Amino acid sequence: MNLLALVVGFGIMGIVVVDGLGVNWGTMATHKLPPKKVVQMLKDNNINKVKIFDADETTMSALTGSGLEVMVAIPNDQLKVMGSYDRAKDWVHKNVTRYNFNGGVNITFVAVGNEPFLKSYNGSFINLTFPALQNIQNALNEAGLGSSVKATVPLNADVYDSPSSNPVPSAGRFRPDIIGQMTQIVDFLGNNSAPITINIYPFLSLYGNDDFPLNYAFFDGAKPVDDNGVAYTNVFDANFDTLVSALKAVGHGDMPIIVGEVGWPTEGDKHANCGSAYRFYNGLLPRLGANRGTPLRPTYIEVYLFGLLDEDAKSIAPGAFERHWGIFKFDGQPKFPIDLSGQGQNKLLIGAENVTYQPKKWCMFNPEAKDLTKLAANIDYACTFSDCTALGYGSSCNTLDANGNASYAFNMYFQVKNQDEDACIFQGLATITTKNISQGQCNFPIQIVASTASSFSSSLVLLIAGVWFLLSGVMFEV
Ligand SMILES: *[C@@H]1O[C@H](CO)[C@@H](O)[C@H](O)[C@H]1NC(C)=O
Ligand SMILES: *[C@@H]1O[C@H](CO)[C@@H](O)[C@H](O)[C@H]1NC(C)=O
Ligand SMILES: *[C@@H]1O[C@H](CO)[C@@H](O)[C@H](O)[C@H]1NC(C)=O
Ligand SMILES: *[C@@H]1O[C@H](CO)[C@@H](O)[C@H](O)[C@H]1NC(C)=O
Ligand SMILES: *[C@@H]1O[C@H](CO)[C@@H](O)[C@H](O)[C@H]1NC(C)=O
Ligand SMILES: *[C@@H]1O[C@H](CO)[C@@H](O)[C@H](O)[C@H]1NC(C)=O
Ligand SMILES: *[C@@H]1O[C@H](CO)[C@@H](O)[C@H](O)[C@H]1NC(C)=O
Ligand SMILES: *[C@@H]1O[C@H](CO)[C@@H](O)[C@H](O)[C@H]1NC(C)=O
Repeated sequence: MNLLALVVGFGIMGIVVVDGLGVNWGTMATHKLPPKKVVQMLKDNNINKVKIFDADETTMSALTGSGLEVMVAIPNDQLKVMGSYDRAKDWVHKNVTRYNFNGGVNITFVAVGNEPFLKSYNGSFINLTFPALQNIQNALNEAGLGSSVKATVPLNADVYDSPSSNPVPSAGRFRPDIIGQMTQIVDFLGNNSAPITINIYPFLSLYGNDDFPLNYAFFDGAKPVDDNGVAYTNVFDANFDTLVSALKAVGHGDMPIIVGEVGWPTEGDKHANCGSAYRFYNGLLPRLGANRGTPLRPTYIEVYLFGLLDEDAKSIAPGAFERHWGIFKFDGQPKFPIDLSGQGQNKLLIGAENVTYQPKKWCMFNPEAKDLTKLAANIDYACTFSDCTALGYGSSCNTLDANGNASYAFNMYFQVKNQDEDACIFQGLATITTKNISQGQCNFPIQIVASTASSFSSSLVLLIAGVWFLLSGVMFEV
C-alpha cells in the first residue's frame, strides 16, 4: 500500500507541485486552525513537505499517517539544554523515534534552533548552537536514524556577506565574528552528509531600504548585476550564490543547500500586498519548477515557502508585515492566485475545508458615544492584545477614518476574545453589531473557532508509543 501511495504520489506530484517544494507551518496564532484541517489542506494542494517550529504533539498527531515529509525543530530557547547529550537523546526519543513506525510521521530533518545567529540576539546562541547540533545528530545516529534523519541549522542569510568593497556573490564569506562556529558547523554537517539550511528574504532587502532596486527583489526585468562575467538579475540568486562562495571558502563548495524559508508578506508595508506577493511567487516558482537553480548551482533546490498561514500572535518587532507571510489567511483561505507547479497557471489554492467560524458579529465604535477623551487609550489597549497591523501605512485598512480605525481595533480585540460581550465595552465607546462593517478593501474579520488541544488522535499516537513511554518512566499531560 505504501508502494502504491508512493507511485500515485509521484504521478500527481510531478504535475501539480514543484519537485521537493515544502511550506513552513507556523502556529503563533491566537486561534489555531485545527491541525487535521491544515494537514488535509496540504494534501489537497499536493504539498508533501512541511517544516514546523517545534515537535508539538497535536501537530505531530495530525501528521501521523499523512505521508508528508516533516522537518521538526528545536526552538532557540532549548539549545542550551541540548548541550547535554542525555537531554538530546531524550528529545530524539520523544520527538523523533516515537513517530518512527509504519504509518507514523516521516521525519526527514531536525532543525536545531531557528536563525540562532541573528544579530538581534546579541550572540546569546553563538556558543550553544554547535554543541546542540552535534548532540542531536549523534543521538539520531545512535538511535539508528542517522541515514534518514539529518540535523541542520536554519540560518538567517546574515551569517554571510560580501565585502562592501566587492559586493558580488563570488566574494561571499561567513561573517568574521562567527566564522569559527560556522566552520565547525559546516564541517560537522559535511561529516554527516547533512545539508546547510538558509532563509532568504528578498522582501527584507527591499524593506526599509529605499535605495534597493525594486525589480531586483523579483524575478522579472531587473538590470543585471555583473559578477566577473556572470549576470545576476535577482537578489535571490545573488544571495544563494554568496552562500555557495562562503561554503567553498571553507572547503565545502558542494554541500547541499536547503532554502528553509522564502516568501513574501501581504500586509504591513508599502511593498507588502497581494500584488507584490503574486509577482514574487510568479517568478520564484517557475524557476524552481524548471530546476534552473542559480548561476553557481544550476540544479534542483529544495525550498520551503514561508509561510503557510498568517500568524496574528507573532512579534512585530521586525515589522508589521511579520503577521502576514501566509499564502493562506489565518482561516486557511487562499489570498491570491499561485501555481505551485511552476507552470504559471496561477489560480486560487484549495482552502481549508469545514472551518468553523464565530457567529457573524462584529464590535464597532459606538457612534452615540459622547466622551471621546479615552478613545485613544482604548484603541491602544485593543491593539496591544490583538492584531491591528492592517491599519498601518501601505496596508489594506490604512484609509479608514478615525471612527473606522476605532471600530477596526475594537473588532480585532472582540474577535480575539471569542466575541465575549465584555470585550466590546471599551468604557461605553463600543457596541456589538450583526451588520458586516467591512469597508472596501478593508475586511473586518470574524475569527474561527480555535482548535482545542485535541484528544482522540493524539491518544492514538500515545497508545502506540505508550509502551515505550512507560518503559522510560515518563508522565505525560493529556
Ligand atoms: C519534544 O518536543 C516538544 C514540542 O516542541 C517539547 O515541548 C518537548 O520538551 C520535547 N521533548 C523532550 C523530551 O525534550
Ligand atoms: C520518507 O521520505 C523520504 C525522503 O523523500 C523517502 O525517501 C522515504 O521513502 C519516505 N518514507 C516513507 C516511510 O514514506
Ligand atoms: C540585545 O541588546 C540590545 C541593546 O543592548 C537590547 O535592547 C536587546 O533587548 C538585546 N536583545 C536580546 C535578545 O538580548
Ligand atoms: C563564546 O565562546 C568564546 C570562546 O570560549 C568566548 O570567547 C565568547 O565570549 C563566547 N561568546 C558568548 C557570546 O558567550
Ligand atoms: C569531521 O570528520 C573528520 C574526519 O573523521 C574529523 O577529523 C573532524 O573532527 C570532524 N569534524 C567535526 C566538526 O565533527
Ligand atoms: C468536511 O465535511 C464533509 C461533510 O461532512 C466531509 O465529507 C469532509 O471529510 C470534511 N473535510 C474535512 C477536511 O474535515
Ligand atoms: C488610523 O490609524 C492609523 C494607524 O494607527 C493611523 O496611521 C491613521 O492616521 C489613523 N487615521 C485616522 C483618521 O485617525
Ligand atoms: C464582510 O464583507 C466583506 C467585504 O464585502 C467580505 O469580504 C467578507 O467576506 C464579509 N464577511 C462575512 C463574515 O460575511
